[in-house]
Amino acid sequence: MPDPDVAGTVRFPTGYRIERLRSDHPRRACCSGQSRVDDWLATAALHNQDKHLSATKVLIGEDDSITGFYTLATAQVDFTDLPPDLIRRLPRRHLPVAVLAWFGLDEHHQGQGIGCRLLAQALRDCYDASQTFPVVAVILDCIDDTVKAFYQRWDFRELPGHGQRLYLSWMQLEAMMAGA
Ligand SMILES: CC(C)(COP(=O)(O)OP(=O)(O)OC[C@H]1O[C@@H](n2cnc3c(N)ncnc32)[C@H](O)[C@@H]1OP(=O)(O)O)[C@@H](O)C(=O)NCCC(=O)NCCS
Repeated sequence: MPDPDVAGTVRFPTGYRIERLRSDHPRRACCSGQSRVDDWLATAALHNQDKHLSATKVLIGEDDSITGFYTLATAQVDFTDLPPDLIRRLPRRHLPVAVLAWFGLDEHHQGQGIGCRLLAQALRDCYDASQTFPVVAVILDCIDDTVKAFYQRWDFRELPGHGQRLYLSWMQLEAMMAGA
């Protein structure tokens, strides 16, 4: 697993703070280099949050700009879509998962380890929420093949038959939070 201490409080560079997305955040100024990711933040993230379909957290820099963001949601997946190690001893039905639906960092801040910290914070949120609303895994759909390597460093694995869909089991998540 990369550096950030996911088992404790995630540390961002001095002056940075995490906030729940609000209408006064400058949502159109964050440019990750992936237009689909940026368009989501600019036009859809707040609407979806208002409808309780997803929740978006933004990383705010010292100048109050959005340095990065992530969107979390929940979903259900059929147990047949999950790998054998994960569904062992689970009921044969749809199972609850957390979804890292969107994730991006402004281009000016990429390559400095901040993305890693933001992912650590997103996983910490998934873990905390799962103490109240349990999930069997965190899943995500990679926007392209190159970014897959970024997630695989965190032990995300490919879901069989879904090349771009990755998962992290609740066992892995718990082990991470325990600092294992
Ligand atoms: C993916 C993203 C959030 C990573 O943020 P970042 O701050 O640049 O990442 P970090 O600096 O924390 O990188 C940590 C490590 O992952 C690697 N990495 C970063 N982005 C990567 C990518 N797209 N593909 C493969 N490896 C990547 C880095 O090289 C670094 O490795 P190192 O520690 O050996 O140097 C950022 O590149 C981004 O916003 N990309 C555009 C939007 C996007 O693709 N979102 C994901 C949608 S599924």
